[in-house]
Amino acid sequence: MYNAFFGFKDSPFNLTPDPSFLYRSRQHEEALANLIYGVHSRKGFVALTGEVGTGKTTMLECLQDYLATHRIDFAFLFNSRISVEQFFEMIAYDLDLQCNRTSKTEVLFSLNQILLENAGRGRTTVLIIDEAHNLEWDVLEEVRLLGNLESRREKLLQIVLAGQPEFDRKLDAPSLRQLKQRIALRCSLQPFEELETIEYIGTRLNKAGMPEQTVFPAELLAEIHVRAQGIPRVINAICDNLLLTAFALELRAASLEMLDEVSEDMRLEWPGKRAALGRPRLRERPPSEAHFLSPSD
Ligand SMILES: Nc1ncnc2c1ncn2[C@@H]1O[C@H](COP(=O)(O)OP(=O)(O)O)[C@@H](O)[C@H]1O
Ligand SMILES: [Mg+2]
Repeated sequence: MYNAFFGFKDSPFNLTPDPSFLYRSRQHEEALANLIYGVHSRKGFVALTGEVGTGKTTMLECLQDYLATHRIDFAFLFNSRISVEQFFEMIAYDLDLQCNRTSKTEVLFSLNQILLENAGRGRTTVLIIDEAHNLEWDVLEEVRLLGNLESRREKLLQIVLAGQPEFDRKLDAPSLRQLKQRIALRCSLQPFEELETIEYIGTRLNKAGMPEQTVFPAELLAEIHVRAQGIPRVINAICDNLLLTAFALELRAASLEMLDEVSEDMRLEWPGKRAALGRPRLRERPPSEAHFLSPSD
């Protein structure tokens, strides 16, 4: 909507996990390296955890790009609210298994064959499950059993599980202790530090076609970080709303007053909110004054 106004060739703050907008923060870089290493070293299970919106799915998208480029077979389950039947059907579909995909027995038989064939040719096969914290207990049990498939020398299927921190707690259940013990590699994503938030916003604007960003003044960037609490998804939503507001007002830069409005519209909660909103607000001021307010006002 505002792309032409700001001269973007692409929307900078989409909420999709698009690897072409990747900001290589140290922890994202490390997480991706771990996922790739875990897959290659045939460790069996690898787990990636992080709060909502910290970039887990984006990492899995990057991993898929990597696997596709290196011609490594994989199945990707992005919807984890599935039954055992759907679980096997989706694996069969993704790995293009030639069998009756609605029969668990046939899928398992066919999967085992393909895994042995791939292993025989020195090839890895990967199962990626996003939103793993939502998996039902019976599906988790099937995941555990798939992790048991092995030749005399190695695990046949590398399984990457990504989920919110409660996934770790779910694995504490006595019935899943075995699965927990088998997770050979773990990584987690934390919210950004302030400097990372600023670099992150700059990177996305750069990729959208604005190399030296001019829309968010420094003090606004710091405040966006505080209100988004360093969570990439929230940063995106705030920045997108700010650009929209600036565009509607035909202004080239966003301001703290706009951020107050956006925060209210988004019903944002953050530490120190009361004090921050104690300042006089844009809506409460006479219109003639509004455009000349300094951001630190
Ligand atoms: N390192 C990153 N580089 C670029 N965008 C990111 C990064 N991390 C997160 N995002 C963005 O933040 C939003 C939420 O990321 P997502 O991967 O969906 O989080 P999660 O799966 O943990 O809930 C997406 O719009 C995504 O593009
Ligand atoms: Mg996700």
